[in-house]
Amino acid sequence: MRWVLAGFLAVILLIIALMGWRGMTSVRRPLMLIPDMDIQPRYDAQAESAFFADGRTMRPTPAGVVAFGGLDYFSDAGSPRKNGDLLAEDDAFYRGKVGKTFVSKAPIEVDLPLLRRGRERFNIHCAVCHGATGFANGITTQYGLMGVPSYHDNRIRTMPDGEIYNTITNGKNTMTAYGHQVAVRDRWAIVAYIRALQRSQNASVNDIPASARAELNQ
Ligand code: HEC
Repeated sequence: MRWVLAGFLAVILLIIALMGWRGMTSVRRPLMLIPDMDIQPRYDAQAESAFFADGRTMRPTPAGVVAFGGLDYFSDAGSPRKNGDLLAEDDAFYRGKVGKTFVSKAPIEVDLPLLRRGRERFNIHCAVCHGATGFANGITTQYGLMGVPSYHDNRIRTMPDGEIYNTITNGKNTMTAYGHQVAVRDRWAIVAYIRALQRSQNASVNDIPASARAELNQ
């Protein structure tokens, strides 16, 4: 009988030992048979430091440190190349603006490779809505997308380059932003290509070099 009682008490104690202290906190380290690397000397954010004279664990930045922007500059899908100009300070280039004013001309040199790049990017990202020639007759409009403006409207023809760049970057009204998937230089390439599209639909005889005009009348 005594053993039965002792056994009963032992079981009760065991239950209390296992369940009774659940949820209680302790400052002592738990016993860990396999510690992995759970416990390492380190400082927690905002914690006090006994090492640094000012007692701060989070160190203030040393004088002369510069911000890290890290925008990608000219990337192909899947292989972003980091931008060397980490600060992205050049407002005209990165934001299409100087102060609050949109730049009227793209702040990069427009040459044939850039236009080709722009055509490629435009056909990938924009033509579905704006149409390959910019007449707002992309495939999505056949499915009911409304409000896409033609690039050959005078309003967009006379719009500053920076404003178009800004529309690509941030979107506008019902048009979503493309900044996250079109790299900065590619946006300017697209702007340049849109200008080429506009000229292609709005040229006059005077745009043809005098020496070549004779061929027109043949
Ligand atoms: C999913 C369809 C769609 C795609 C893709 C698209 N757009 Fe648009 N875009 C629109 C619509 C809709 C509007 C009219 C927005 C509004 O209500 O002002 C618009 C407006 C514009 C405007 C005129 C903005 C203004 O100030 O009135 C420009 C410029 C433009 N888009 C350029 C682009 C370029 C460049 C691309 C490719 C990077 C592109 N869009 C991709 C639908 C699209």
